[in-house]
Amino acid sequence: MKTIVRVTGVGSYLPSTVLTNDDISRMVDTNDEWIRARTGIGSRHIAAEGELTSDLGTVAAQRALSHAGLTANDIDLIVLATATPDLTFPATATIVQQKIGMKQGAAFDVGAVCSGFVFALATADGLMRNSGFNRALVIGAETFSRILDWSDRTTCVLFGDGAGAVVLEKDTADDSSQDGLLGHHLRTDGAHKELLYVDGGPSATQTVGHLRMVGNQVFKHAVVNIAGAVDSLLKQTGVSHEAIDWFVPHQANQRILDGVAKRLSIDSSKIVSTVGKHGNTSAASVPLALSAALDDGRIKKGDLILTEAMGGGFAWGANLFRL
Ligand code: UT7
Repeated sequence: MKTIVRVTGVGSYLPSTVLTNDDISRMVDTNDEWIRARTGIGSRHIAAEGELTSDLGTVAAQRALSHAGLTANDIDLIVLATATPDLTFPATATIVQQKIGMKQGAAFDVGAVCSGFVFALATADGLMRNSGFNRALVIGAETFSRILDWSDRTTCVLFGDGAGAVVLEKDTADDSSQDGLLGHHLRTDGAHKELLYVDGGPSATQTVGHLRMVGNQVFKHAVVNIAGAVDSLLKQTGVSHEAIDWFVPHQANQRILDGVAKRLSIDSSKIVSTVGKHGNTSAASVPLALSAALDDGRIKKGDLILTEAMGGGFAWGANLFRL
């Protein structure tokens, strides 16, 4: 017998306010046609005034717990991915811990920007196998609207707010079992900081700063890096492209999703795309997409799921799991 870690619950939350492309075209020199053609985005959700990353993450976590049939008392680990924490410290994960009423275990944040959820899932998996944690919440939660320069049309049209969460549970299975989390591939390269970064922070400027991106340069790296990460992960796990039931990618741009799928010969009918309605929600995008495809019945228990993401750092990676 061997130890495995399964995804047993999924939940998500989107703030109620929807900002359409037409809404943004009244703020900066852009239009619905350009945004849809270049990104696939039609609208995005924006957190209400006073609604914090921890609030979004808390609702997503509660929904994931309810889906798993568990309560906060059952959880001993929270790993929360965000680039938009409530405060510089304490970790937003500990604020969620308090808000869901979890009085045991440990909670901390992971910072890998748009790849945050992919990194957080791998981190929680490793801690559960090696450090005695039994049931975890892995959360991606962002209020990117708070770090956008709303006068910069090259970035403000791209992002949105939201949160997604999964519950992980440790189990035992036959040595030949191919259930649960099967593998992860994580990469970073700090050489490209100037292509995607926030121009503020406590140590550098004592301000929060705004997101800056050379989008067309990031685009080129994204397709190559993501395809490389997926190839490495499939090689590492001995799984073929054809065996994947659902491809649940980070939602930055429909053209990136299509480009990666083409490069990897993944059928477009297997891609979960939510970018049209959510925009890019950074660390929240993968669990939000997973949650959407479970809710509408596309993804079912037993399906083999491949995630991927790439963003600031650069940081990129992929996870493979059977639900
Ligand atoms: O999740 C983190 C990772 N992020 C990404 O993966 C994002 C990757 N990048 C992208 O998705 C795309 O590069 C963008 C959507 C950001 C931009 O699309 P693009 O096809 O690469 O356009 P571009 O940056 O090359 O700009 C083309 C033109 C420029 O005008 P000129 O110089 O050709 O006259 C821009 O000024 O489009 C202009 N433009 C806009 N026009 C209308 C840029 N933003 C806008 C806008 N509305 N919002």
